Amino acid sequence: MNSSSNYSLKPHNTFGLDVTADNFVEYQSVEELREAIPGLQKPMLHIGQGSNILFCGDFHGTVLHSRILNLEIVDDRPEGVSVRVGSGMVWDDFVAWCVTNGLYGAENLSGIPGEVGASAVQNIGAYGAEAKDIIERVEVLDALSLERRCFDASECGYGYRTSIFKQTQFRKYFVTHVVYRLSRQWKPNLSYAGLAKQFEGKAELSAADIRSAVMALRDSKLPDPKVLGNAGSFFVNPVVSDMLASTLSLLYPDMPQYPAADGKVKLSAAWLIEHAGWKGADLGPAGVYEKQPLVLVNRGGATGEDIVRLAVAIIQDVYDTFGVELHPEVNKIG
Ligand code: EPU
Repeated sequence: MNSSSNYSLKPHNTFGLDVTADNFVEYQSVEELREAIPGLQKPMLHIGQGSNILFCGDFHGTVLHSRILNLEIVDDRPEGVSVRVGSGMVWDDFVAWCVTNGLYGAENLSGIPGEVGASAVQNIGAYGAEAKDIIERVEVLDALSLERRCFDASECGYGYRTSIFKQTQFRKYFVTHVVYRLSRQWKPNLSYAGLAKQFEGKAELSAADIRSAVMALRDSKLPDPKVLGNAGSFFVNPVVSDMLASTLSLLYPDMPQYPAADGKVKLSAAWLIEHAGWKGADLGPAGVYEKQPLVLVNRGGATGEDIVRLAVAIIQDVYDTFGVELHPEVNKIG
């Protein structure tokens, strides 16, 4: 176990915010974590690569980071392969391993920042796929009782960018391993219109082709956090009533709308932000990315409060213009 005090979190949050943690602990195994917890300064905060987090000040407690990095095939049959992966493994390293080893299902999720543990908490998603599509079970340590527990995917309450680990069981468990179910049968997922268009008329298409195309799409739309601090989509796409959606489509016939669960309608937060006039705009050192307005950026020297000020102004303007409430995807701490 590695433990440090008064530790800079700048390399551990993709907004690049200059904040510290009273204590920072990295552990290599479940046993190490279990033994460490009772003696740690509380509160505890578990992070991955800090790609979905906004620190609004120093953290007075202990920040935990998993370095459980093992990967093992636990079931291998013609119809599918189960792979158990440590929560600290970098998500995209796992995706790359799958593509290289002829295991399919993760390739559309190429290039997403973060680690395996967060994939199961956030239900990360992009380009027509979601982590829940390939998650078989999630192994956790109960932060209070220190007992190990295993959740089948069906018990995780997965929905659009959410799970019980973000909702009812928030901060109760630390994810230690995730078991993914992958296929040996190759079948491209072209449900995202932009990908389908790119491969129109192409007969032979490999998982590596999808991976490269997704990486290129991401590069063209999303800023590299090493160059421009950001946490990907700052807001989730809002889901509204059928009635509000109908009214909006009369007023704004070009507004994108997608069917969602329970007869509701999902709107595009990027479209709403752009049409409220915020695309490319700045408020102090915080800004709205010019190629994808869902992404808020640190133009240099921004604090968490600067980002929050910008987010609040956008939420207000979108509400005043369209009557739609935006909600952050990013977790605000402090
Ligand atoms: N749009 C605009 N203006 C823009 C950009 C987009 O109006 O400048 C509208 C367009 O109508 C476009 C629509 O937004 O068709 C959707 O854009 P995009 O395909 O980029 O998807 P998104 O809904 O904005 C979501 C995820 C992204 C993911 C992409 C691709 C959320 C919150 N975000 O964005 O995830 O990469 O789909 O699948 O669901 C992330 O979570 O960090 C993230 C980047």
